[in-house]
Amino acid sequence: MAISQLSLTDFRNLKSTTLDFDRGFNLISGDNGSGKTSLLEAIYVLCQAQSFRTHQIKQCINHDKSGFLLFGRFDGFKAGLARNQHKLEIRIDGETIKRRSELVKKSPIQVVNADSFVLIEGSPGKRRAFLDWCLFHVEPAYAENWRRFQHALKQRNRLLKTKQDLKQLDYWDQYLLEPSNELYVMRKQYSEKLQLVIRDCFEEILEGIPLAIDYQQGWPDDTDLPQSLERSRERDIRLGFTGEGIHRDDLDLRSNGIRVGEVLSRGQSKRVCLVLLLAVLKLVSDASHSPVILLIDDLHSELDQHAQQLIYRQLLQMDLQLFISNIEQVVPAAIEAKEFKMFHVEHGIIRPRIFS
Ligand SMILES: Nc1ncnc2c1ncn2[C@@H]1O[C@H](COP(=O)(O)OP(=O)(O)O)[C@@H](O)[C@H]1O
Ligand SMILES: [Mg+2]
Repeated sequence: MAISQLSLTDFRNLKSTTLDFDRGFNLISGDNGSGKTSLLEAIYVLCQAQSFRTHQIKQCINHDKSGFLLFGRFDGFKAGLARNQHKLEIRIDGETIKRRSELVKKSPIQVVNADSFVLIEGSPGKRRAFLDWCLFHVEPAYAENWRRFQHALKQRNRLLKTKQDLKQLDYWDQYLLEPSNELYVMRKQYSEKLQLVIRDCFEEILEGIPLAIDYQQGWPDDTDLPQSLERSRERDIRLGFTGEGIHRDDLDLRSNGIRVGEVLSRGQSKRVCLVLLLAVLKLVSDASHSPVILLIDDLHSELDQHAQQLIYRQLLQMDLQLFISNIEQVVPAAIEAKEFKMFHVEHGIIRPRIFS
């Protein structure tokens, strides 16, 4: 869902304002420290009730104030978010909601910044989170299975840790297996879809870098999940936690059979990360039949001109609402011919730039 208007009050260093966005392209310029990332962050927080910069969105409250407010008009709904030192309140169309996921579901959003490039070198958890973001938005059954799995895993780990009532392990194993199987099937299927989408749509960005994506199950290849739980039960009891299962899944990324982290140059790795990201964005926007919001923070300092051109060319063909921050007040060549809005940030004051 595209966001057409944002009002923000006492968010980071930004002066309170209301901004009308373009449905397709929004460019944000300004010197270092002016507030560009803060503006992108405000949009992200309004969509996610979380930040990409901090685990505590309390940190986003302006230092001299006691709380921030965000309000946005999206296609088909309005969302408001208020955070003070003590609590968070989220409203959709004026009604307070209890579950964060109700908000998150409504407006898929992703961010590309320097951290996006840890997808390859980072822990398996980063890659799982990446794949799960896609599943959350395209598979209606994902969220409930995920919730059930988390609950069962927590209970099982509690038993293993306290070592009391170990008889109950059989029960929790069963309870764990059902959602695990569902999630396993979804993750496997979407790992394959990712590979296909990349081959069909984004090969150009890879410029010949071979890339193979394989789902890697979080238990030994020679067993199924029930067997692995049974086989590792004694070790789990000894160690006090569940060692194998879908919480140990990974995406195996290889180039000519070698792990991409071990063989690709820094520049090539960045391209692989971007291609993966574009592929999940495409899967989500195709499934939801509405634009996904993509925030791009300082791509220009991460990629050379040629790579930028390739990326922008692809972005233009996708159903996205883009917010791109950049120090310079220049419009990327690929976007020049399109309609766009530009905002300039100076010491926290955001001004739309009028072109005549
Ligand atoms: N909670 C806050 N209250 C007030 N100012 C803040 C807060 N958090 C960060 N800042 C300041 O906001 C300024 C803008 O930061 P940022 O958005 O990262 O700028 P840019 O992305 O344009 O380089 C920085 O000078 C930073 O110190
Ligand atoms: Mg910044």
